[in-house]
Formats: sequence, structure tokens, C-alpha cells
Amino acid sequence: MTEQQNSIILTGIKPTGTPHIGNYFGAIEPALRRASEYSEAFFFIADYHALNSVQDGETMKELTRNLAATWLAAGLDPSKVHFYRQSDIPEEFEIVTILNNFIPKGWMNKMHAYKASIDKNREAGKPDDNDVNMGLYVYPILMACDIIQFNATHVPVGHDQIQHVEIARDIAQRFNNQFKENVFVLPEHVVEDGIAEVPGLDGRKMSKSYNNTIPLFAGREGWEQAVRKIVTDSVDHSNETIRETPLFKIYETIATKEQSELLAKELVEKTIGWKIAKDRVLEVLESRFTEQAARYQELLQNPEYIDSVLAEGAARIRPIAQEKLAHVKQVLGI
Ligand code: TRP
Repeated sequence: MTEQQNSIILTGIKPTGTPHIGNYFGAIEPALRRASEYSEAFFFIADYHALNSVQDGETMKELTRNLAATWLAAGLDPSKVHFYRQSDIPEEFEIVTILNNFIPKGWMNKMHAYKASIDKNREAGKPDDNDVNMGLYVYPILMACDIIQFNATHVPVGHDQIQHVEIARDIAQRFNNQFKENVFVLPEHVVEDGIAEVPGLDGRKMSKSYNNTIPLFAGREGWEQAVRKIVTDSVDHSNETIRETPLFKIYETIATKEQSELLAKELVEKTIGWKIAKDRVLEVLESRFTEQAARYQELLQNPEYIDSVLAEGAARIRPIAQEKLAHVKQVLGI
């Protein structure tokens, strides 16, 4: 079989905060559900991508283990999926250094994440590149190499990451064209239909940078603390407007369709109020995640196990990156 005929799913998550239900429903759950549809799956922890914001070693270690334990508690089977830490594949960084020379700087200037930083600085009356490090600027190049070093064909991402997968494709194609050889497989992004963005406690997108998250495996107390903070209003809602409220949208993400319809009806008819509705959110969190939360805590008690799973995962696939690097050097003639 040629590389192109293989279907390989690959995705990474940055260890930048406590995993929350937005990470779960937006990335982890769909990735795990889809894994078996592909001939191989690569799921990894993008620690070097996190390094442009997380710069304390102990914190990075802890966040990496938390994220690894999250994937494992969510059901990832490391004997079926390649599960590893980005920084354990050093060949990647040699590929990055080589590819840097074939990527127009202008491509980076137009990337959304970088442009968003500039916009933020301008709003604050600061110089454009204030607090922008090179890690942020070349982030898409590292991400492209994450993908193309392993011949990934399909990359599940949220809407905000589509541009990054497109640039990975452009980078792969440009190199292939220049050397008239199919060194890299061209990846495609996969955006899961039917997964609306998970809203946070305040109705904005759930994101640790907005501090509006429901932690995924926190357990009863942690969930309760978050759920009580879901922003509510004192408007008379119709069957349409209720669906736009943060509480309903959160509930809709975690509950069944029947449960959501019932909650909408009860809120509109005022047979229940927001307080009871919050209890309902808690009930669903408890029934869905209590078991996994226990497994998560158990895993965190055993950091050596987590580290060994990641190390073994990396060791198994390093030869693929080594081969890719060798191929790149061979076409370059170096
Ligand atoms: N940039 C992605 C995010 O912020 C994380 C990521 C890093 C990634 N490398 C990747 C996703 C490779 C998919 C493939 O969500």
C-alpha cells in the first residue's frame, strides 16, 4: 500500500490548562469515536506549542500529565492509538528547521492567531508585536510538521484551526512541487458536523482564557462550583430564545435530545427555574462523568505510569519521523 492510500487521523491538544467539557466535546470525544474509522490514529500532547505561554517546567509537567490522564480516562487505548508527547519526537524540530527555508514569511503574517495578537495590541495602544514571541509567530510551521512528519491524511480540528491545516497542506505541497517528489502527504482538515461550539458559563466560547469553563473531571464539588456560575437572566423566554441561553446550550451539549427538549419546555413554561435547571446540569455531569473522573484521579496518583505510556508511544513512532527526515535530506541532497 502506498502512503496515500493509508488513512491516518492525527490531532494534538496543548497542555495549557485544566481540560474542560469544551475540550472533551469539541476534540477528545469525537477524535476517540472516529479513531477506528482510520487505519492509524495519532493523538498527542503539543507541549512545545504550549511553551509560548507555559514557561515554568513544573507547571508544564503537571499540565501534560493532566491532559494525558484526561485522554486515558476518556477511553484512549494506548495499544490501539499512537499516544505521545510532541517534544519526544526530536526529528520533528530538524524538519521544522529545514522547512523554514521553504516557507514564505508572508504566509505567517496572515495567520489568524498572530493577527489576533496584533489586533489586541493595537486596541491596547501597544506596538503590534508586543508580547509576541517567535513561538507564536511560527506556531503554524510546528503544527504543519506535527502533521506531515507522520503522513497524516485527516486532521480533526475546531473551526479556529482550519487555517492551520490548510497552511500545513500548502507547506507540504510547496516542498513536493519544488523537488518534484511526493515527500509529504497532503493533509485535510475534518470538522465534525453537529458539534456546535460549547459555550462557557458566560455564553462566550468555553475557553480557559475567558475563565468560563466547566472542568471535565473535577468531580461533584468542582462541577458544582462552576455550574452555579452559569450566567442566567430574568427574561420571559420563548421556545426559541431559551435555546440561546448559556445554560441551555451547555445542557444541550451534555444531555440527550429528549432531556434537552424537556428542560426547554419546563423553563419556558416556568415549571422550573434556573436553580433547578442548574441541578439538572449537575445531574447529567455526574451521571456521565463520575466514573471517568475516578479513573482520572487514579491515573494522577500514578505519574510514572502516565510518563511511561507517553514514552512508549513516542518510541514506537519515532522511526517514522526518522524516515521522513532522511527522505527530506535525501531530496535536498544533504
Ligand atoms: N493548534 C492546535 C490547537 O490549538 C493544537 C495542535 C498542535 C494541533 N498541533 C496540532 C491540532 C496538529 C491538530 C494537529 O488546538
